[in-house]
Amino acid sequence: MSTLFQPFATQLDFETGKLNPKGKVIIRHLSDMKGMYLDEGEFENQLKKNPLIYEVYNVVVPETMPHIQHCVTILHPGKVGKEYFMTKGHYHEVLDRAEIYFCLKGKGELLMQTKDGEFSSLEMVPGTVAYVAPEWAHRTVNTGEEPFVFFAAYPGDAGHDYGGIETEGFVKALVEQNDKPTYIENPRYIQAVK
Ligand SMILES: [Fe+2]
Repeated sequence: MSTLFQPFATQLDFETGKLNPKGKVIIRHLSDMKGMYLDEGEFENQLKKNPLIYEVYNVVVPETMPHIQHCVTILHPGKVGKEYFMTKGHYHEVLDRAEIYFCLKGKGELLMQTKDGEFSSLEMVPGTVAYVAPEWAHRTVNTGEEPFVFFAAYPGDAGHDYGGIETEGFVKALVEQNDKPTYIENPRYIQAVK
């Protein structure tokens, strides 16, 4: 066998969204997302049950270039008050690394923003291939009634910077108004200090 990294495959179950083998698994419950939802009272209320918000199954490859990290995220349906369940969101540690999201199941929104406070969003339904361009933070929100499942691929050395979003928040929040998902300005948003 050569000294090259060997090709391999992972099996994705379209029904459950899970990978086989599971790879590196990240599980986030509500308690992992303190300070991220607008309705703090409702957040505290739901902490008693501490619902599962999302699961990420990461195929294990070296976190270096020229590898390509890839994973599947299962974002569960639900709301904290009027605000839909969402992922933490992150910039890439190496800021100018892009990412591709491919929606497999369910529906949601992909929220993106830059450090200058520019905001963009895309609707995600099965078949949507979204391009998260370099330098855009990204967060997903489940606006449906079933799990929102998407596949992602990004450069090996990109890394995750969650701290930026924990501090500054997202420019907009997605809440249910008159039975439909509606963007509102996030009163907690603080523009990043550059
Ligand atoms: Fe990312």
